[in-house]
Amino acid sequence: MSEQPTTTRLDLFIDRMVSQRASLDSAIARTMGRPEPVFELGLGNGRTFHHMRERITDRDVYVFERAVASHPDSTPAEHLVILGDVRETLPAALDRFPQGASLIHADLGGHDRAKNDVFARLISPLIEPLLAPGGLMVSSDRMYFEHLEEQPLPPGAVPGRCFTYLKAA
Ligand SMILES: C[S@@+](CC[C@H](N)C(=O)[O-])C[C@H]1O[C@@H](n2cnc3c(N)ncnc32)[C@H](O)[C@@H]1O
Repeated sequence: MSEQPTTTRLDLFIDRMVSQRASLDSAIARTMGRPEPVFELGLGNGRTFHHMRERITDRDVYVFERAVASHPDSTPAEHLVILGDVRETLPAALDRFPQGASLIHADLGGHDRAKNDVFARLISPLIEPLLAPGGLMVSSDRMYFEHLEEQPLPPGAVPGRCFTYLKAA
């Protein structure tokens, strides 16, 4: 009997991309028509921001990033950028957005999965109060929320590559 092929970095990358898109599309549809804005945590190259900006026509998408270095087509307007370290900008956003966000997407991690997990534990309590009741949070890393409820994966998403959480209304 032949051995199972190993999971390569390419496999993991593709699974993450496919899962991000499926999870974002599902969360966008589920929060459509809500009045609260959307938050993108971690701009990077701007691929997921571009996807969200193209698909979300009814709400502003604010980007939290410490240094903007995105593709020119995927660079947010200046008034939608919240520049700085999320450990400081997320708590500060509570005053600016008392209504919270209808959808928060976080893709803040790098290549070190253990480090990503430590960071996810650190920022989970900073994200939780920013989500509006009935809002959804989509993350590339498992999060550690007190009251948010993990959601089943949408069709097309790969287990462990993306996570969605709901704040009860
Ligand atoms: C993996 S990239 C995001 C990729 C993006 N989703 C895309 O599709 O192109 C992660 C981004 O998070 C940002 N980031 C990481 N830690 C951060 C922190 N503590 N505060 C603010 N931004 C942070 C990095 O600067 C980087 O641009």
